[in-house]
Amino acid sequence: MTIPDKTQVLIVGGGPAGLLLAQLLHREGVDTVVLERRARDYVLSRIRAGVLEQGTVDLLRRAGVASRLDREGLLHTGVEIAFHDERLRIDLDDLTGGRSVTVYGQTEVTADLYAARDAMNGVVVHEAEDVALHDVDGSSPYATFRKDGTTHRIDCAFIAGCDGFHGVARATIPADILKTYELVYPFGWLGVLSDVPPVHDELIYAGHENGFALCSMRSLTRSRYYIQCSLDEKAEDWSDDRFWAALAAHLPRDVAARLTTGPSIEKSIAPLRSFVVEPMRHGRLFLAGDAAHIVPPTGAKGLNLAASDIHYLSEALVAHFTRQDDKGLETYSARALARVWKAERFSWWMTTALHRFPEKGAFGARLQQAEFDYLASSRAAQQSLAENYVGLPF
Ligand code: APR
Ligand code: PHB
Repeated sequence: MTIPDKTQVLIVGGGPAGLLLAQLLHREGVDTVVLERRARDYVLSRIRAGVLEQGTVDLLRRAGVASRLDREGLLHTGVEIAFHDERLRIDLDDLTGGRSVTVYGQTEVTADLYAARDAMNGVVVHEAEDVALHDVDGSSPYATFRKDGTTHRIDCAFIAGCDGFHGVARATIPADILKTYELVYPFGWLGVLSDVPPVHDELIYAGHENGFALCSMRSLTRSRYYIQCSLDEKAEDWSDDRFWAALAAHLPRDVAARLTTGPSIEKSIAPLRSFVVEPMRHGRLFLAGDAAHIVPPTGAKGLNLAASDIHYLSEALVAHFTRQDDKGLETYSARALARVWKAERFSWWMTTALHRFPEKGAFGARLQQAEFDYLASSRAAQQSLAENYVGLPF
């Protein structure tokens, strides 16, 4: 591959955010280069959440990358919230006037985006090492990096920092300009992927005195389960039998009785945090996706927030290059953060309502029971959960 020495938009990060931005801009004639630290196989080996909001599905269709999603994605018009042995179906379709979610693994979204980059001869530089961003608050930003031992420089008009929570873009913004908001939860999720049929045809988010559990899926033959675990747990200390027994003890009895167990094909522990930086722009550098914010996976918002950021940013960049209109660039950070914070609130609410917090004592446990009882008795409460789960408007 020939690595160009200039482009219009330099995108750091070849995950969902960076690839979707490249695809949307390319379709509008805006030139991009994506710099990705890892090999493609590594990126595609990551196991991530798989619930797409209606707005995300619509955006992927507009990007021309949704044909497999439309064939293989599972349309879910409802989701279950359980608390101890009580189960409550949230009828998303009825409560939101016809909106739903689609279950389709993020890995598949990323694979579809890479296939689209290849089909359009999009430039993605894998194993780009030591990416550094320069003059981002000046008029001529550029990136330097090493590839196969050679140092490269790419000059550009704008840089999109789509390099995730551990990337370089956010770190490029001076500390005295960036405001960071963070809440770290005192537990993690132990997740298992297994080629067994899902226990239920919709997702089940379960609060229990033993801890939170989530019954999800990748297809009708591949299940994804999570249980709340302490942060000092290690995945290698969990045999499959130990996991299946613990999962059953975190679920309503009638659900546990129907579990199909089998060998795990992936087992990992992830910490939970809520995290936002402000602003999401510094000069000609724009942050999007996990580079700017993290949500606990309880609300399935991570990928969907990356999508809405990219919706705003791609529209703004296209307006700049095709109509010399910079209003979208000037309002990007405020517009993106308005939606980010609403999703942070919902993800925090789902997490605090359903996870076990021993430090909150008996009063905290009774408040969680009251939260569930109110949800079960109030259409307004169910409507609030439903409109957030299917996704607030972009
Ligand atoms: N240089 C180049 N690439 C980098 C660098 C760097 N310094 N640091 C990180 N990257 C790459 C990572 O290897 C990764 O492929 O940036 C990409 C960031 O992708 P994600 O972490 O998936 O973030 P994003 O594209 O914003 O997608 C958000 O991913 O993490 C999940 O739950 C999250 O669903 C959400 C979604
Ligand atoms: C998943 O399938 O991995 C998943 C689904 C919903 C969530 C989190 C994870 O809220």
